Amino acid sequence: MKVLVATEKPFAAVAVDGIRKEIEDAGYELVLLEKYTDKADLLKAVADVDALIIRSDKVDAEVLDAAKNLKVVVRAGAGYDNVDLAAATAHNVCVENTPGQNSNAVAELVFGMAVMAFRNMYNGTSGAELKGKRLGIHAFGQVGRNVARIAKGFGMEVSALDPYCPDEVMVEAGVVPVHSVEELYKTNQVVSLHIPATDETRKSVGKALLELMPKGGLLINTARKEVIDEDGLAAALEARPDLKYVADIKPDIADALNEKFEGRVFFTPKKMGAQTSEANINAGIAAARQVVAFLRDGIDRFRVNK
Ligand code: 3PG
Repeated sequence: MKVLVATEKPFAAVAVDGIRKEIEDAGYELVLLEKYTDKADLLKAVADVDALIIRSDKVDAEVLDAAKNLKVVVRAGAGYDNVDLAAATAHNVCVENTPGQNSNAVAELVFGMAVMAFRNMYNGTSGAELKGKRLGIHAFGQVGRNVARIAKGFGMEVSALDPYCPDEVMVEAGVVPVHSVEELYKTNQVVSLHIPATDETRKSVGKALLELMPKGGLLINTARKEVIDEDGLAAALEARPDLKYVADIKPDIADALNEKFEGRVFFTPKKMGAQTSEANINAGIAAARQVVAFLRDGIDRFRVNK
């Protein structure tokens, strides 16, 4: 059996070593395709593999068509909006993710970006502290829960909105449950986005919500650029010179935003939330173990397609 790790943005070498050990100990062969820039390379590499481990790499119908022996795709990470689930199901391919494995890394970056924004992007002027500020967590999944834990250390007041999460889970974590998106944005100076990109959430955060934010509002996006209505974001930044937006995923209109709102916006050049050796090891090895469990024993506990 052949297992391909295809990562346009590679794992740390130590994580690849760990993945190799899991795969080879199971008697399978590991093939690596890293830093590819051409989809044709991926199409070629998948031709004879039984399993595929990816990160944000796109797996669409064309890739699935090219992968004649493919049985399982494991997205080493949380969000699987990069995989065409319906096409995978049609090709009889199981798709899994590795929930929670990289969530601390993403949560830590939220605070790296929050401090940077509150200190005026480190431009030497007097900024503000996070202590005592109100933080709203937009979706209380694995990353949101880690954000809440760290926020407590900063002395922030934390609330969260998540229709899929029972109030008790939030209350147990010392977080105040909020039941409308308007209330979340209206009552929190800092909002951290953790919603997945789905048909329901695409372009769901824009001008109307941002303008509800209290004075000095900061929106932090370590989720997906697709959940933002970028024109609405630009309009809100224009109308409210006190608002800031920092994101780990470059918007499509990044150049225009940087030019117009210099000092109030910041974007990482490449998605960095899960780019730590710890997260790479956790997610990469979990993915390798899930591949082995599927190929050897048919276990599909983390399956995300029907
Ligand atoms: C995720 O969904 O797990 C994160 O966005 C990390 O994505 P990455 O593996 O492409 O860095």
